Amino acid sequence: MMAKTDWLLLVLMGVVFSSIERGEGRKTSELTYSAIKCRKHSASIKDFGGIGDGKTLNTKAFQKAVNQLSQYASDGGAQLVIPAGHWLTASFNLTSHFTLFLHKDALLLASQEINQWPLIDPLPSYGHGRDAPGGRYISLIFGTNLTDVIITGENGTIDGQGAVWWQQFHRKKLKYTRSYLIELMHSNKIQISNLTLVNSPSWNIHPVYSSNIIIQGLTILAPVTSPNTDGIDPDSCTNIRLEDNYIVSGDDCVAVKSGWDEYGIKYGMPTSHLIIRRLTCISPYSAAIALGSEMSGGIQDVRVQDIIAINTESGVRIKTAVGRGGFVKDVYVKGMKLHTIKWVFWMTGNYGSHADTHWDPKALPEIKGINYRDVVAENVSMAAQLEGLSGDPFTGICMSNVTIGLAKKAKKYPWTCTNIEGISSSVQPPPCQLLADQGPKKSRRMCDFPTESLPIDNIEMQRCSYRLNY
Ligand SMILES: *[C@@H]1O[C@H](CO)[C@@H](O)[C@H](O)[C@H]1NC(C)=O
Ligand SMILES: *[C@@H]1O[C@H](CO)[C@@H](O)[C@H](O)[C@H]1NC(C)=O
Ligand SMILES: *[C@@H]1O[C@H](CO)[C@@H](O)[C@H](O)[C@H]1NC(C)=O
Ligand SMILES: *[C@@H]1O[C@H](CO)[C@@H](O)[C@H](O)[C@H]1NC(C)=O
Ligand SMILES: *[C@@H]1O[C@H](CO)[C@@H](O)[C@H](O)[C@H]1NC(C)=O
Ligand SMILES: *[C@@H]1O[C@H](CO)[C@@H](O)[C@H](O)[C@H]1NC(C)=O
Repeated sequence: MMAKTDWLLLVLMGVVFSSIERGEGRKTSELTYSAIKCRKHSASIKDFGGIGDGKTLNTKAFQKAVNQLSQYASDGGAQLVIPAGHWLTASFNLTSHFTLFLHKDALLLASQEINQWPLIDPLPSYGHGRDAPGGRYISLIFGTNLTDVIITGENGTIDGQGAVWWQQFHRKKLKYTRSYLIELMHSNKIQISNLTLVNSPSWNIHPVYSSNIIIQGLTILAPVTSPNTDGIDPDSCTNIRLEDNYIVSGDDCVAVKSGWDEYGIKYGMPTSHLIIRRLTCISPYSAAIALGSEMSGGIQDVRVQDIIAINTESGVRIKTAVGRGGFVKDVYVKGMKLHTIKWVFWMTGNYGSHADTHWDPKALPEIKGINYRDVVAENVSMAAQLEGLSGDPFTGICMSNVTIGLAKKAKKYPWTCTNIEGISSSVQPPPCQLLADQGPKKSRRMCDFPTESLPIDNIEMQRCSYRLNY
C-alpha cells in the first residue's frame, strides 16, 4: 500500500493517472492538468459504447458523446476522456465549453475509408479546395462557431493514417481536398496542448476565422517526404500563442495564412497578434515558419522568438505573388538557431500558385517592416534570397546580429537581393548593398522586438482536478 504522504506527493506533483482497481474492470483515477477552463461534468468514451480495440469503428460513439455532453454547455461544461486503447474513428464534431482529453496510452486512429468522409464547402476566403476545386473532406476533429474548446491530454496520440491520402494525392486521384487532423472555424477560446499528432493526411492543425488560441506542448510528426503535412496553420485568426511545439514535417512547420487571391481579398480577414516561441522544427523541403503564400487578407504583428530549426530549407520565409493583394507587416524575429539550412532568409514575390484565372494583376501585396535579430546559422548553402516585385519593393527589412556559417560547398557570394529596401548591422557574411550597413554600433537597438505584451500572453491556465471512474 502506498503511504498517505507519497500519495499526496504524487498528486501535488501534478501526476496524472494513478489508479485503484474497482469492480467491473473500471478504475477510479485522479486526473490533474492545466487548462483555460475546468469542467463540471466528465465522462468516458466507454460510456457511449466506445471500444478501444483498434478495429471497431467508434464514429457513432464519438458523435453521441459530444451530442449528449453538449447539454452541459450552460452548466459548467463537460469533458470527454479517451482512456488507454486504440480508438478507430472517422470524423466527429466538437461542441462549446468542452474538453477532449487523451490518456497517455490513448491512440485515436483515423479511419482510412476515404469515400466515407463527409464533404464540406471550400473556405470562403479560398474559393476553392487546395487539392481540387469544389468541396473538401471534413477534418478528423472538426468544430465551427464554438466558444471555449480544449483538446488536450498527457501526450496521447492522434494518428491520421495519412498514407492512403498521400498516395491518392501523388497519383492525382483525389476528387476533393484532403482532410486535416484538427480544424476549428469561427471559434473563440481554443486550447490544443500536450498531444502527439502523427501522419496527418494534409495539414495537422488549422484554426481559421478564430481568436484567442493557445497551442502548446505538441509533438507533430510526419514523414519529411509526405505532401503538405504542415504542422500548424493559423489562418485569418487573431490573438494566437504557439509555444513549446516540436514539429517534423513534409511541409512548413508553421504556415501563417489569410486567404487566397480575390477570395481572400474579398473576405478581408487578417491574421494578427501571433506569438510563436520555442518552436523546434525539422523540415528539409520547407520552412520553419512560412508567412503565406495565401496572405490576401493580410498578416500583421507576428512575434517569433527562440526558434530552432535543423535540416530545414529556410527559417522564417515570406511567400507571395502578384494577384494576392493583402499585406505582411510588422514581423519580428528574435533568436533563431539554425543548422543545415538552404536559405537562412527567403522572401519571394513570385510564388505563383493561383486559386483560378480570375486573380487581379493589379492586386499587389505590401511587404513591410520585417525584422530579424540574433540569428546564428551553421552549414548554410545560401545566406539569403530576397526577391521583391518590380514596382512593388519589399521595404523596411531589418537585420541585426546575424552570424551565418556557410557550408563548404556554398556559393562565394551568398546573397541575392532584388526589389527590396532595408538596413543591416553586424551581419556576417556582409549582406547585399540593398540592406544598407549601419555600422556595428547600431546593432544593439536595431530591429527591436516589441516590449508591450499581447492580451493572449495574459491568459492564465487553471489547474483542473478530476476523480474519475471509467
Ligand atoms: C503539458 O505538459 C507539461 C509537462 O508535462 C506540463 O508542464 C504542462 O503544464 C502541460 N500543459 C498543459 C496545458 O496541460
Ligand atoms: C459537423 O459539422 C459540419 C459542418 O457544420 C456538418 O456538415 C456535419 O454534418 C456535422 N457532423 C455531424 C456528425 O454532426
Ligand atoms: C458561424 O459564424 C459565421 C461567422 O460569424 C456565420 O457567418 C455563420 O453563419 C455561422 N454558422 C452557423 C452554423 O451558425
Ligand atoms: C510525447 O510523445 C512523443 C512521441 O512518442 C515523444 O517524442 C515526446 O517526447 C513526448 N513528449 C513528452 C513531453 O513527453
Ligand atoms: C551540411 O549540409 C549538407 C547538406 O547541404 C549535409 O549533407 C551535411 O551532412 C551537413 N553537415 C553537417 C556537419 O551537418
Ligand atoms: C547576438 O545574438 C546572440 C545569440 O544569437 C546573443 O547571445 C547576443 O546577446 C546578441 N548580441 C546582441 C548585441 O544583441
